[in-house]
Amino acid sequence: MASQNIVAIVVAAAVSFLVGGIIGHLGTGIDTISSSDKEKISIMEKLVADKWESEEHLNHKIIDMVNTDNLRNNLIELAKFPHLAGTERDHQLAHMIRDRFLEAGFDTADLVPYDVLLSRPNRTNPNLITLEDGEGQIIFSSTYQEKPLHEDDSDPEFIHAFNAFTPAGDVRTEAGRGVVYVNYARVEDFDKLEELNVNVSGCIVIARYGKIFRGNKVLHAQERGVKGIILFTDPSDVAQEGVEAQDVYPNSWWLPGSGMQRGSTYMGDGDPLTPGWPSTAQAYRLKVEDAQLPMIPCQPIGYDDARVILEKIGGTPVPSDDWKGGLTGVAYNLGPELQDRYSNYTLRLNTHNVHQVHRSYNVIGTIKGKVEPDRYVLIGNHRDAWGYGASDPSSGTAQMLETARVLTQLISSTGTCEQATGTGGNIPEH
Ligand SMILES: *[C@@H]1O[C@H](CO)[C@@H](O)[C@H](O)[C@H]1NC(C)=O
Ligand SMILES: *[C@@H]1O[C@H](CO)[C@@H](O)[C@H](O)[C@H]1NC(C)=O
Ligand SMILES: *[C@@H]1O[C@H](CO)[C@@H](O)[C@H](O)[C@H]1NC(C)=O
Repeated sequence: MASQNIVAIVVAAAVSFLVGGIIGHLGTGIDTISSSDKEKISIMEKLVADKWESEEHLNHKIIDMVNTDNLRNNLIELAKFPHLAGTERDHQLAHMIRDRFLEAGFDTADLVPYDVLLSRPNRTNPNLITLEDGEGQIIFSSTYQEKPLHEDDSDPEFIHAFNAFTPAGDVRTEAGRGVVYVNYARVEDFDKLEELNVNVSGCIVIARYGKIFRGNKVLHAQERGVKGIILFTDPSDVAQEGVEAQDVYPNSWWLPGSGMQRGSTYMGDGDPLTPGWPSTAQAYRLKVEDAQLPMIPCQPIGYDDARVILEKIGGTPVPSDDWKGGLTGVAYNLGPELQDRYSNYTLRLNTHNVHQVHRSYNVIGTIKGKVEPDRYVLIGNHRDAWGYGASDPSSGTAQMLETARVLTQLISSTGTCEQATGTGGNIPEH
């Protein structure tokens, strides 16, 4: 392995954010951005100036070469269709990125396959949360698809709402009790409930998203003997200007009432069957039952559906105002009892998630170094998205593609990597 490449663009790693972020931000033109963004940019400019003073001319040259139309067009292409990991569109985008690397003039660009455990809801048997009255009539059934609010929003490939890696399960409460609102499902929230003698063991809990990783919420609930967990986005976190149509998407950037946050609940990194080693064809794999996956069913809902459940909870009142979210007219009672008039209602959480091994790809492109071939600069971003992925991850991928183009153009315009990348006494350590 004596002579290696110096600049590698690796789509799998998540280290592109800083480089991409700087170029993306400055590329948009400083006049149109908010004061808090200006502050961030001035911090970044300072970092750049401090670390790369000797290459300041190069920084400016790179930034001048960034074409904002390219950024915009990249983003439109990447976010045109949903591209969940392991789906046809995900594979198409892998090919698209490889082709772009080759067009830009990379020395190599390859797709590298991995077979990874992925989790999906059952397409024909959606996950449901239901409320039944004393006669067994279903009086409420949660939605598993967002309301189409814009003409481009109803792609059949947009995955139904689910939380990846939570098991299929079917749990229900007794009549009139067994539902607890647990705030953000942090350790301190469960401790507070214990202090208030609200016993969550054997209950279905409902927690708002935010503050901590959703996987920790599920784990905390599981550790306290909870039998199922519902995660909802609260307007105080996602619709801060109001929940009326004019206040939310598509009329503003805030989340509408049917919007649901999908996402993984796995507490480790990467493929749960190969924790810490690559999911290559011959790799040793754990059995699914030995992987450290969550053990209780979980389902995300939007705030319109959350309201229907939360407004029926009675029992212990909230300990303080910071437990109250932004749903007007909802007391955010803790439970576990339902309010008297719902004393014969039961809540059921029924999920059908399936975990299966699917193939996905890294795209690895390289530019060979001419001066220090044993040093690597890695730039990367993930590609797969839960939906269209315009923000996460495609805003980063759009910048990565433009970075790839600018770097190769810089090398061909200066002729050598020496001038283009510098010989760098100041390259930060990774
Ligand atoms: C999805 O649900 C249907 C209906 O219950 C069932 O027949 C099918 O086997 C399920 N699919 C998977 C992949 O489990
Ligand atoms: C359920 O409770 C409601 C209100 O408390 C009551 O009117 C109704 O008769 C009850 N139904 C059954 C089947 O118990
Ligand atoms: C909490 O509820 C569970 C299940 O109903 C029960 O086994 C346990 O004893 C209760 N804990 C306390 C502290 O009451």
